[in-house]
Formats: sequence, structure tokens, C-alpha cells
Amino acid sequence: MALTVRFHEHGGPEVLRLDDVDPGRPGPGEVLVRVDAIGINRAEALFRAGQYIEPVKQFPALLGTEAAGVVEALGPRVGGLEPGQAVSVVPAFSQNDYGVYAERAVVPARALLPRPQDVDAVSGAAVWMPYLTAYGAMAEVTGLRPGDVAVVTAASSGVGLAALHTAARLGATPVAVTRTPAKADRLRAEGAAEVVVSAEQDVARRVLELTGGRGAAAVFDAVAGPGVIDLARAVAPGGTLLLWGAQSGRPTPYPGFELGMPALNVRTYTVHETTRDPDRLRRAAAYVASGLRDGAFRAVVDRLFPLTEVAVAHRYLDSGERFGKVVVTVRH
Ligand SMILES: NC(=O)c1ccc[n+]([C@@H]2O[C@H](COP(=O)([O-])OP(=O)(O)OC[C@H]3O[C@@H](n4cnc5c(N)ncnc54)[C@H](OP(=O)(O)O)[C@@H]3O)[C@@H](O)[C@H]2O)c1
Repeated sequence: MALTVRFHEHGGPEVLRLDDVDPGRPGPGEVLVRVDAIGINRAEALFRAGQYIEPVKQFPALLGTEAAGVVEALGPRVGGLEPGQAVSVVPAFSQNDYGVYAERAVVPARALLPRPQDVDAVSGAAVWMPYLTAYGAMAEVTGLRPGDVAVVTAASSGVGLAALHTAARLGATPVAVTRTPAKADRLRAEGAAEVVVSAEQDVARRVLELTGGRGAAAVFDAVAGPGVIDLARAVAPGGTLLLWGAQSGRPTPYPGFELGMPALNVRTYTVHETTRDPDRLRRAAAYVASGLRDGAFRAVVDRLFPLTEVAVAHRYLDSGERFGKVVVTVRH
């Protein structure tokens, strides 16, 4: 049996329950993993609340797609892994099918990456969602090049910080957008060449000033809502406004017509484009692993919570105070 976080109805963090359930035996192409740490992401809070891009198909529902642990057992037709091996679970599956908020969980083998000896469980649970999301969008979808300016909103989030690091490693200039001045110094310390405080500054005007009037090659936006009109003004001709989150929770207009039909690419993106394609995942994982090795990339962990306080961790997620990643640890 394994303590497993499930919810039996949609709602706030209080609907999360710790149920003692049999994790089951791994089937073909599956692996049973002892979970040591769990990366907490916005997608889980949205899935819990019934606001995720993918609806919950059945209750009780599982949660979580990012974790680190150790392989306990292999199902049939699984190669390249062995019991006792340290691994990370990356977000390559639907929460309707699998969930890693648990002491032990069955997951598809294609979602496992070997975890090097020097990467502890907390780091191994904190880096993959942010960096795979950032790499796929910045390097492969947008084709960010050295010398480009990349604007990142919600920059203090796990994904935002990974995007700042990734832009810098690609040779681009990362510009961070954050709502208040509270996190500005820490964003500069994490490599932001400029920090724009959206509550105090006109973001588009500031980006145009910074780029000599041309605009940024790409804007990576996790906020969406009516603000996209203003963000689109900050994009250079032929550049991209890439939407990867919807923190505002408000309807998002299409900015093209409002701005006179500029040469603007508007693109939505999820990490699943990267993680559900074996070739793209292989390239992205190699890039992230090399960044972790050379120190350009690292886990920025804001707070740890024990599994028994998973609802508190979700409440903290909603507080907006965080800087980097929230991780839940599992004691065995
Ligand atoms: N497309 C994908 O595949 C993918 C994958 C992972 C994450 N995401 C998205 O990336 C974003 C970050 O996710 P995360 O899990 O790393 O962290 P998160 O907890 O969702 O983001 C926290 C940050 O978002 C900003 N924020 C919070 N509420 C906001 C609001 N109402 N308006 C504007 N900004 C707000 C704050 O940054 P400041 O205090 O700096 O303003 C806060 O620190 C989310 O939108 C998530 O859905 C997308």
C-alpha cells in the first residue's frame, strides 16, 4: 500500500486527501517508482480546481507529473532501467492516467530519466518541468538566437526562472517581468539583464526603449488575459508572442487585429509538445542535463513541505509569494 494524494471532487486545496491505496503492478512499458520528492506545479492546482486545459475524466483523481525517486520494479518490455536506479519522472503523461503525488507510483517508462548520483531527490524533482518547458519553447519552437531579446513574464515562477537561465545560455538577453518590486533584486541575481515591474511601468514602452524601438524577438507569457495586447506591442516585426500559462484567469483576446495586423506570431505551447515526442525529449533532456552539469542551470527551490502537508503546499502555491519551486518530500 502507498499513501497517495487523490481528490474526490473539484475545489480548493482542502479537497486533497491522503488515501492509502495499492499502487498496482507495472504493466507493459510501465515502472513502479518509490517517490522521494515531488515537484509542485500550477498544472496540478488547475487540475484540482477543474480549470486545467484537460478535464478530469474520473474521480477519485490522481495528481502530479514531476518527481524524483528510485525504480522499484519494471513491467514487461521495459529496457534501459533497473531496480534500485535513481530516476526523475518528467511531465510526459496525463494526470488522468498516472499521478506521482504518492509514496509509490506506477508511471510510463518513457517519462523516466536517469538521475545522476550528484543530483539529490529535491533537485531531481524541481528542474525538469521548468527547464523542459523553457527549452522546448525557446530553442525549438521560437528558435531564439544569440543577441535576441527574450521577455519573460511571471519571471519569479519555476518556469520563469528556468526561462531566464535558458535564454542566457542560448546567448539571448533575458528581460524579466514581475508584478511588484519585491522580487526584482533576486531576479537580477538570477541573470535578468533588466527587470520590468508591471504594476509600476508600461511593459511595452520599457521593452521598446531597451531594444532601440524594435521590440523583443520573443515574449514568453504565463499571464495571458487582456494584457496580451500590450505585450504584443513589445514584439519585434516577425517575432513571437508565446503563451504558456494563464495566471490572470481572464479571457485572452487575439491581439493581431487590435494592433493593425502586424507581422506577429501568436503561439500557444505546452511542455507536452516536447516530452511526448521521443526525439524532442531526448534533445531537450540532453540540453538541460548539460546545463545542470556546467552550472548554468540549477534547481531554485523556494520551500519544502512534507507529503502530509500537501494541501498547505497547494495553498502556498496560490499565495503568489514564491520565488522558484515548491517541492514536497516523502519520508519512507
Ligand atoms: N505550457 C506549459 O507546458 C507549462 C508548463 C509549466 C508551467 N506553465 C505555466 O507557467 C506559469 C508558471 O508556473 P509555475 O508552476 O512555475 O509557477 P506558478 O506558481 O504558477 O507561478 C508563480 C508566479 O506567477 C506570477 N503570478 C501569480 N499570480 C499572478 C497573476 N494573477 N497575474 C500575473 N502573475 C501572476 C507570480 O510572479 P511575479 O510575482 O514575479 O509576478 C508568481 O510568483 C504558470 O502559468 C503555468 O501554468 C506552463
